[in-house]
Formats: sequence, C-alpha cells, structure tokens
Amino acid sequence: MTGIYLHTTLRGKFRVWERELDRLGLRGDEQLLDMGCGRGAVLIAAAQHLPSGRAVGIDLWTVDQSGNSPQATLANAAKAGVADRVEVRTGDLSSLPFADQSFDVVTAAAAIHNLRSPGLRLRAVDEAMRVLRPGGQLLIADPWPFNRRYASHLGQGTVHRLGPSYWYGVPLLAVTSLHVTKAN
Ligand SMILES: C[S@@+](CC[C@H](N)C(=O)[O-])C[C@H]1O[C@@H](n2cnc3c(N)ncnc32)[C@H](O)[C@@H]1O
Repeated sequence: MTGIYLHTTLRGKFRVWERELDRLGLRGDEQLLDMGCGRGAVLIAAAQHLPSGRAVGIDLWTVDQSGNSPQATLANAAKAGVADRVEVRTGDLSSLPFADQSFDVVTAAAAIHNLRSPGLRLRAVDEAMRVLRPGGQLLIADPWPFNRRYASHLGQGTVHRLGPSYWYGVPLLAVTSLHVTKAN
C-alpha cells in the first residue's frame, strides 16, 4: 500500500495529469485556475502547456499536503522555468476571489474532496463553474464517489477512471476524472 501511495504521489499523478492536460486540446494562451494547487504538481504542468497563457493556483495551505506554501509552489515553478506565467493566491475553494467567467480552464486535483462537508464541496464545484467562461473546461480529479456526486449535482459531465497510477494506496481510493464543458 505504501509503495503504491508513494508511486502515485511522486510519479503517477504527474504522468496522469500530463495525459489529461494533453487531452484538453489547449491552444496555449488560456487562463487556467488550479483549485487546491498545493506545491504545484498540476499548476506547473498546466503552465508548461500554456506558453502564452497564465496558470493561477489557489490554496489555503492546510495540512492536507505537507510542506505546502505559496513560497514552496513559486520555488517549484521557478525550478520548472514557468515562474513568469504562474501566480499563487491564498483563498478558500468554496468562495473563490475571482470574477464570474474569468478562466478558460479550471482544474482541481485531489483537493475538493478535502473540504469539510458535502455542502462545502458542492459549493466549491459551483464556484468552479461560476468562474469558468462559456465553452470552458472543468477537470476535477477526485475519488469516484465524490466525482459522481459532483456530476449529479451539475447534471452534466463525464467521469472516467484514471488508472492504478493514481491510486492513493488502495483501489478504493482510486482517483477518477470529472470532465465538464460549460455551455455557451
Ligand atoms: C491533497 S492536496 C493536493 C495538492 C495538489 N492539487 C496536488 O495534486 O498535488 C489538497 C490541497 O487542497 C488544499 N485545500 C484543502 N481545503 C482547501 C480549501 N477549503 N480551500 C483551499 N484549498 C484547500 C490543501 O491545502 C492542499 O494543498
């Protein structure tokens, strides 16, 4: 179990997100928001897909990820050579400090399920949709029961398994993706 967990957190999730970001078919100039960015695994991979765009990460820097902080994330972005197009903000996923329709893409990796109550989690999903532009894409990676609940709340979206590279130790904690395109 520990081996599988370590594989996911050190390597597997990075590979899976590379593939999922490729699948979004980005032009490269999009504005992207990564909810619960932590130390920047997805934020930085996203910035690498956006040579003329911008990747904004938001987080409350809770204990859900060790060593997370704005400084750690910005240092990781600098190491990856994408600091010029990465921005980090402090804020709550259930009340995003951004205007309606301000992002082309919103991602959230293993973050929304950490919110304390089902109501807060659905509020975070609604916030993701609010800040997304019409035609924009939302991609949430969370365990299956959570993503199924978000999809049923939104009344749209497709959920698929992301495979053993994204198991947090046991198949029960297998991460799935929920993909939604906001109507025009
Ligand atoms: C398991 S970590 C995942 C980090 C990153 N997305 C990744 O995949 O490596 C979850 C992140 O969500 C953040 N988080 C949890 N609850 C939050 C909230 N209510 N608002 C903002 N961020 C939150 C935590 O601080 C943590 O950095």
